Amino acid sequence: MIPSQKTQVQAQFGPSAQDYVTSAGHAGGADLERLVAWGRKRGAPRVLDVATGGGHTALAFSAFTPTVVSTDLTLPMLEAARDFIADTGAVNVRFVASDVEALPFCDASFGVVTCRLAAHHFPAILPAMKEIARVLRPGGSLLIEDILGHDDTELAAFILQVEKRRDPSHVRALPHREWEAFLKAAGMTVIDEGTLVKARQWEEWTARMRMTPEAKADLERFVLDSPERCREGFSFTIEDGRIQTFSDRLILLRADRD
Ligand SMILES: C[S@@+](CC[C@H](N)C(=O)[O-])C[C@H]1O[C@@H](n2cnc3c(N)ncnc32)[C@H](O)[C@@H]1O
Repeated sequence: MIPSQKTQVQAQFGPSAQDYVTSAGHAGGADLERLVAWGRKRGAPRVLDVATGGGHTALAFSAFTPTVVSTDLTLPMLEAARDFIADTGAVNVRFVASDVEALPFCDASFGVVTCRLAAHHFPAILPAMKEIARVLRPGGSLLIEDILGHDDTELAAFILQVEKRRDPSHVRALPHREWEAFLKAAGMTVIDEGTLVKARQWEEWTARMRMTPEAKADLERFVLDSPERCREGFSFTIEDGRIQTFSDRLILLRADRD
């Protein structure tokens, strides 16, 4: 039987939970600083962090927010985030296991919702964005960050293969125009936005998803055998035939509930 996409998410992220807590790319960077700057400017008594992962966004927002609620589909991930945040001494973060498509909160109960580096795992974006809009109060802000999808068909197909071979729970990174359309359809208006380039260390990136040596070798062959313009499109660096780094483009959006 083919596992459902959400079962795949739990199977992928459960065993890697601690690696997301210690991942330098998730712990900080210009992307998280940008979300925090939007969040500080916006201000809200209650912030919901959807798909909290290792908890870095929730922790950053807990420094200037009375109450942060962290949610995630993967229980071991939520437990790892809870232990990590408790160790920092922060006491204003609560943890609730939940799917983004069925948030166990009343309508209009949060002033800000954050969702960082997770939407490419959601099987369908519109139900997820509608559910986020439901728990946002009118005028409240969704601060969302994700991998930016490509409009170039060949580059989009190449990176989708790379991502899916590393992590079968990866669904798809949306291009800019699709983000705008989904947010609008969910009843939100884009107020601010930006893009950033984030470098990935190949060994760390592949190890975090616990690839078998065979799957990793297949993925490396796939990358090395792909057209040069695909590798160039993601700034792959290769030394002595071994992949060292590549770059993702990230999109950051602030969308306010109508
Ligand atoms: C890369 S981690 C998120 C990183 C985190 N937001 C941060 O800022 O460090 C992706 C997370 O999305 C969660 N996730 C995937 N699909 C989900 C869904 N349908 N509902 C809630 N969480 C989901 C996974 O369990 C995983 O913990």
